[in-house]
Amino acid sequence: MTATALAADWNVARIRDDFPILHQRLAGDRPLVYLDTAATAQKPQVVIDKLVEALTQYNSNVHRGIHQLGDRMTTELEAAREIVQRFLNAAEPDEIVFTSGTTMSINLVAHGWARKFLKPSDEILVNEMEHHANLVPWQMVAKATGAVLKYIPLTTDGRLDLTALDDVLTSRTKLLAVTGMSNVLGTVNPIGELARRAHAVGAKILVDAAQSVPHQATDVRALDVDFLAFSGHKLYGPTGVGVLYAKRRLLEQMDPFLGGGHMIREVFHDHATWADPPAKFEAGTAPFVEAVALGAAVEYVTALGLDRIHAYEQSLLDYATRQLAAIPGLTIHGPAVEHKGAIVSLTVDGVHPHDLADLLDREGVAIRAGHHCTMPLHELLHLTATARASFAFYNTMGEVDALADALRKARRKFRLPG
Ligand SMILES: Cc1ncc(COP(=O)(O)O)c(C=O)c1O
Repeated sequence: MTATALAADWNVARIRDDFPILHQRLAGDRPLVYLDTAATAQKPQVVIDKLVEALTQYNSNVHRGIHQLGDRMTTELEAAREIVQRFLNAAEPDEIVFTSGTTMSINLVAHGWARKFLKPSDEILVNEMEHHANLVPWQMVAKATGAVLKYIPLTTDGRLDLTALDDVLTSRTKLLAVTGMSNVLGTVNPIGELARRAHAVGAKILVDAAQSVPHQATDVRALDVDFLAFSGHKLYGPTGVGVLYAKRRLLEQMDPFLGGGHMIREVFHDHATWADPPAKFEAGTAPFVEAVALGAAVEYVTALGLDRIHAYEQSLLDYATRQLAAIPGLTIHGPAVEHKGAIVSLTVDGVHPHDLADLLDREGVAIRAGHHCTMPLHELLHLTATARASFAFYNTMGEVDALADALRKARRKFRLPG
């Protein structure tokens, strides 16, 4: 099936029935138009049911239970790990570490790998479209190790300037940290090519996949990435759980980040030895209920089909881009639709993004305004804030119209011409 046929085949009304929150009315009896999925995704009933099932039928701490409930929860947790492994096409379940989210996953690599292996004058390559979660940990590593932070320049339309890559990716580069998809510009980065070029100079690549995993299929082996991080709550799962994928060899070489229960093999009075990965990186009580429900979320999106999700979301993005481009004084920041995913960050001449978000909220349209944890990117754009609408497979073309109508109304409120 072509992408157009896949998108046309999408039964969005049926899918919306899976998401109880979407059917509520807001103040003024307005329907909720939820366009803030990039901040956190809504949860399908199967995820909510899984949380309730875990809490009501087999809630018990994992790995230590010498009883039936503990065994059941442990089995469910390890099944969730295998679901995530298949979702990413990782080589083995032990390459999947459950964390509290993308931020924790990246910090785990920063502490466990980068602080151990980086030396003064080694280089870490980042770029200005990164979320603070994939910038600040590397600034901290640079400070602690003497390594140097380098930036891949961006093109004027907000893509990585690969023509300049060889200037900054050199034998001194030890890590290339890059987002799979920008949470502001929507830019989708060519991870496979970046991994190949990083490996060619002996560097590792870490992918912040917080925004990319919900929108497109991810195959860590085909892409040959070394580290990949994402959050459960942006993938239709619960908050409090996330994933770090890393190649087994790297997990074995890394030091643990947090010390405590479960991550040890033996503890003596003055030292301890470590458990094998992933336990080595899962100190303390894991977010086991949330991880089990994340497994249900991954099964849900897998059953819908990432290719079909992608095709439908791109058709929404294409429609939104055309509708919004017709509004006078409105600028969409970022590249053309073929280079991005379903996120539209915009500004409207004469209206502050926060006022826009506030006026849209009065129409029931939930968007987000601010710097979206990307201050260097906003500095590059000479902006302090943007208004961001982010789409998911449960959004409709009618909701895109509601967004465009609400933006027009906001302009009228500010008495802007056109
Ligand atoms: C691209 C990107 N990376 C990292 C994060 C941080 O995710 P979390 O707060 O779930 O750790 C976000 C959250 O918005 C994001 O969009």
